Amino acid sequence: QCGIAVESRINCGCDRSLSRADCEARGCCYVPLPQSGLGGPPWCFYPVRYPGYKMGPLLPTEKGQRATLARSAPSYLPRDIPTLQLDLMPETLGRLHLTLKDPASPRYEVPFVTSQSRGHKDIQNPLYDVDFQPDPFGFIVRRKSNGRVLLNTTIGPLLFADQYVQLSTSMASSVISGLGEHYTPITLDLNWTSVSLWNRDMAPHVRPSEHFTFCFYFLSSQQQCDGYSVLLLSKMAYYVEVFLQPAPALTWVTVGGILDFYIFLGPSPQSVVQQYHEVIGYPMMPPYWSLGFHLCRWGYTSTNITRTVVQLMRQAKIPLDVQWNDLDYADQRRVFTFDLQRFGDLPRMVEEFHQLGMKYVLILDPGISSASPPGSYKPFDDGLKRGVFIKNSTGQILIGKVWPGPTAFPDFTNPTTQDWWTDCIRVFHSKVPVDGLWIDMNEPSNFVQGSVDGCPDSDLEKPPYTPGVIGGQLNAGTLCVSAQQYLSNHYNLHNLYGLTEAIATHRALLKVKSTRPFVLSRSSFPGLGRFSAHWTGDVRSDWEQLRFSIPGVLLFGLYGVPLVGADVCGFGGDTTEELCVRWTQLGAFYPFMRNHNDKPNAPQEPFVFSQQAQDAMRTAITLRYSLLPFLYTLFHHTHSSGSTVARPLFLEFPTDPDCQTIDRQFLWGSSLLISPVLEEGALEVTAYLPPGTWYSLHNGEAYYSKGQYILFPAPLDTINVHVREGSIIPQQVPALTTTASRRNPFTLIVALSVGNWAKGELFWDDGESLDTFEHGNYSYVLFFAEEVQNRENFGLMLTSDICFILLSCVGAIQSELLHQVLTVAGLDLPMTAMITVQWS
Ligand code: NOJ
Repeated sequence: QCGIAVESRINCGCDRSLSRADCEARGCCYVPLPQSGLGGPPWCFYPVRYPGYKMGPLLPTEKGQRATLARSAPSYLPRDIPTLQLDLMPETLGRLHLTLKDPASPRYEVPFVTSQSRGHKDIQNPLYDVDFQPDPFGFIVRRKSNGRVLLNTTIGPLLFADQYVQLSTSMASSVISGLGEHYTPITLDLNWTSVSLWNRDMAPHVRPSEHFTFCFYFLSSQQQCDGYSVLLLSKMAYYVEVFLQPAPALTWVTVGGILDFYIFLGPSPQSVVQQYHEVIGYPMMPPYWSLGFHLCRWGYTSTNITRTVVQLMRQAKIPLDVQWNDLDYADQRRVFTFDLQRFGDLPRMVEEFHQLGMKYVLILDPGISSASPPGSYKPFDDGLKRGVFIKNSTGQILIGKVWPGPTAFPDFTNPTTQDWWTDCIRVFHSKVPVDGLWIDMNEPSNFVQGSVDGCPDSDLEKPPYTPGVIGGQLNAGTLCVSAQQYLSNHYNLHNLYGLTEAIATHRALLKVKSTRPFVLSRSSFPGLGRFSAHWTGDVRSDWEQLRFSIPGVLLFGLYGVPLVGADVCGFGGDTTEELCVRWTQLGAFYPFMRNHNDKPNAPQEPFVFSQQAQDAMRTAITLRYSLLPFLYTLFHHTHSSGSTVARPLFLEFPTDPDCQTIDRQFLWGSSLLISPVLEEGALEVTAYLPPGTWYSLHNGEAYYSKGQYILFPAPLDTINVHVREGSIIPQQVPALTTTASRRNPFTLIVALSVGNWAKGELFWDDGESLDTFEHGNYSYVLFFAEEVQNRENFGLMLTSDICFILLSCVGAIQSELLHQVLTVAGLDLPMTAMITVQWS
């Protein structure tokens, strides 16, 4: 019973460390190992077939099948749930939904549901088979085509008590990505590590767990050519800890709720991501301008300073679309106000930026100052009247402390709060016509533990099994978890705070502006990408953080939040000129590009550096601007079909073993490979080129790769970008803003394949109207290039006269410019235009 391979031992003491006596009292095996128990394999582990629930017969339901599970003997946990309900809901051929809950007393369930098709019991011939072990209960999910076991929960017991739920499963591969945002490589370390999922205000550091909750993992394996990936989603808004071990296996431990799993069968990694997106919702289509360069700092302490920054950027001829202000603008740091001394002419400044074709965004924290004299601060007075704030367990408004001092926290799960928030934004916008809003501190962050009055001494605040949460308690750095919200208590809703604020802010902007909203949120939860962009928090200005920003950004693409970036040049500490140049080059390929800096640090706007550095930064940002039509088209695809924008190599080349763990390089879509310099002093970069021909974006030089690492020169003014054979990249002549660049001619880069063909596409609309795709107000141009014999002219053949296109070619066709007749009529373009580029 205890003869289990060390790497497969499932810890019998996830909740606390156990002595031999405690271990044996649980009926577990105690087998010490020579190395120290800390962090390594457990000494106390479950024997084979450790008693658990017994499963009754599976009966048909409207959505699938249901069974009752019952415990024959109590577990070692207090307040066991003796009877559980298992629901098995095949939703599509490649998607299985499974829940385990207490049928006697309903628990809070996260309400989001966006999936088109839910629960069809008569799915014919799905990609999966499910087997059950009735006693002790466990289930096994196999891929039908090859019998491969994707999940096997019989490796450990199911425990289900009032405040402790645990389930283990084997995994089909050791290459696993996901489980929220953490400061790690893109593939997770399975060497007895754990990840906690509890949104916290915390700078990225080595201990996983930050302001981000995405309880899903993604497996990829190239071993089987017909099936690569499994992904689990569990929509849990309460605390979750996931233990990883080399078996490979993982154990979920949660402090309550239900177990709610989706299993996505792919089979390709890209289709796994798309299937996941179908459940959580496709990302929003961002406004075009939000893909431009953004500049921010905590410490632009007046409108004059902010204006000067914009002027200096323009003088340096470096593109800038969006100027930001941090909390400096607010009167006594209270949101929805502005300081009349330093920011008295803020409305005029915003208008000036608009005249320049630029946009303006400012910060909006959720904490509403509660200490202003009554009658002097309308957002609080009004919110009080309308009952929008979170209450403590005895029904008074919970007061915490954030930047303005004592603050109340809006409860965004309450529909009344949405109306109040929209009103606040409308009134503010009527004075300061902001173009977007930056919602920070929304884990929610609290500078005191729980509240200024502390928290009650209850089981909610201190679950019987203290999880590995940073700060020791769930209420550390945030609200008392016993606080009451409209939908449930904060214990159940905590991880949803940022998402609910993002939804409210998105809807408010929609109402107030009637154009595509731009919201940037720090805290996140599955579904965030439908409403908001995300940045990776307070990264330090150092080389290690530069490097880890890549997996950080790539993971959010998998999570359905494609508009994501890290603070370019770093937020904390002084940057250096070299680091800032390299970060600007990499940042030019973050889907969201913002340079943001903390108050005490050396300045890091591009214009403060030497001419050489400015030139390098200008080159990088200008390159981004020229590629924006391509980037925008990628956003269209993620919005309309759930594909990814910034893409890990393993997603595009799933059968290439070399690509599995690469996270120092990444792709834009399927055809641009970005290989930045990530080391101080480096003037070369060793980059992996997947098999095929790749062309340097700079000089068109072709590299024929068998799937190999190649050393490329990378002087300070260069970021290596390669174009994949067979692709056509639409570009536009860059300018200092997207308002201007959108009026410029288009260019195409045609990277011919070995067989002399290439294809590409362009999605084009007015860049800011709502639902252009949904309403058909867009143009979609497909480009094909192919070799044609005996043609005299090197020209475009058009199905209709549509646009001016400058054609420049990378590769076999040497640069030739074509001035062809294309009447660009913006939205008058036909819905689908097929352009065949032919040459002799
Ligand atoms: C914390 C945010 O992460 C940071 O970006 C911001 O500058 C400060 N709050 C001040 O608002």
